Amino acid sequence: MSSLALDGGTPVRSGKPLLVETDVFEDEELQALLAVALKKKLRRAEAALDYERALADWFGAKHAIAVSNGTTALHIALAAFGIGPGDEVIVTPYTFIASDSCVMEQNAVPIFADVDPRYLTLDPADVERKITRRTKAIIPVSIMGTPVDLDPIMELARKHNLWVVEDCAQSPGATYKGKKVGTIGHVGTFSTISGKITSTGEGGFVITNDDDLYDKMWGYMDFARKRSLGAASKYHWGLPCTNYRITNMQAAIGIEQVKKMDRLIAKRNENARYLTERLKDVPGIETPQEPPWGERVYYYYAIRIRPEILGTDMLNFAVALAAEGIYDLGYLSTTRWIIPQHLQPLFLTKSGYGKTKCPFECPLYDGHVEYGPGLCPVAEQACEETFWLTSAHPLLEPGDLDDIATAVEKVATAFVAKKAAGTPIAYATAEHRAKLGPG
Ligand SMILES: Cc1ncc(COP(=O)(O)O)c(C=O)c1O
Repeated sequence: MSSLALDGGTPVRSGKPLLVETDVFEDEELQALLAVALKKKLRRAEAALDYERALADWFGAKHAIAVSNGTTALHIALAAFGIGPGDEVIVTPYTFIASDSCVMEQNAVPIFADVDPRYLTLDPADVERKITRRTKAIIPVSIMGTPVDLDPIMELARKHNLWVVEDCAQSPGATYKGKKVGTIGHVGTFSTISGKITSTGEGGFVITNDDDLYDKMWGYMDFARKRSLGAASKYHWGLPCTNYRITNMQAAIGIEQVKKMDRLIAKRNENARYLTERLKDVPGIETPQEPPWGERVYYYYAIRIRPEILGTDMLNFAVALAAEGIYDLGYLSTTRWIIPQHLQPLFLTKSGYGKTKCPFECPLYDGHVEYGPGLCPVAEQACEETFWLTSAHPLLEPGDLDDIATAVEKVATAFVAKKAAGTPIAYATAEHRAKLGPG
């Protein structure tokens, strides 16, 4: 194997950066966008209704509501559940911040449960330990496309009368025991920001089979208007109001994306399985796990680094891969993005809106919460070792995948050899470390 690029060798790849967030925007999307533009109806209207019908049909759900993004999708679900000040919601530390910070939008308190070490999804046993009389809901997240073990979570929900919103921003099409994720909890939420499995640039949606939750979420999406009253509901502002509407332009693109969803998912899965085949025997790394309870999809392809075999942490690994031309250091914080969410400054300092410590320290909250290291040890360890290597982007070409696999193999093999020779591996600089943020 040739020398590492960092040691003066030839990089595996030079020139063309790998795709991460490029939209799959083809002629169909362009024509759909033109059609709504020519009708001069850019705001939420018929195209949004058609998009919602297409989404509901694709998931086999009764209802779908398109919203401005995946974060607002989570918010309207919690609002419709009636979550409020003094309540607790059980969340996961191994996710994007929105899955947890959404709880604060309702002035409720996020309580972190740990994750399963193999799949990095909520561990039902720890969820159970975290339930109190204040708990009102659970937010399982099918991270990177891996379904959560939902039966035990739904069982806990039934037993303790809790709501469940599945955050499926990264996992449309994944299944749990044959059912699509998002259709098992009371509500499923999704994101269609660029780079997700389907994209409308910005956007998100909820799905539900519950008529009452549908009406409530619809209201929270659109100034607390009553869906059933149509235009006449213009002045029925009986609830806290906000505006999370999507535009007709995004919806028109979304309809075309739904038509392609099966193809986009299949291509991502094919890319990921190709990488796994190429990487499965590389020393010092573990390829992604497929859970026994369902079929995952591949939003992102993450590998687990084994520092004790490689003789280094993932930051040196990232810097070496970047020099080989297959990793963009602009995404460096994603190697630890995964700062476990309970260690984000927001929670450590218990920062609330308006310079308060509400909801964490608030007259309406009779519990006590502290966030800090040791709260979720499995997630904390996973964040040190789980490396978000590449998007499984459907437009990646075979040559791109080969470059990724060749570079990973080259770096891992070189690191193992350096470790055996007792050569220190110290490519990451203080500047690189600073980019990772606190922790
Ligand atoms: C797991 C998860 N939840 C929620 C969100 C929020 O979605 P959005 O960015 O559309 O608000 C994202 C991603 O962006 C996500 O990855």
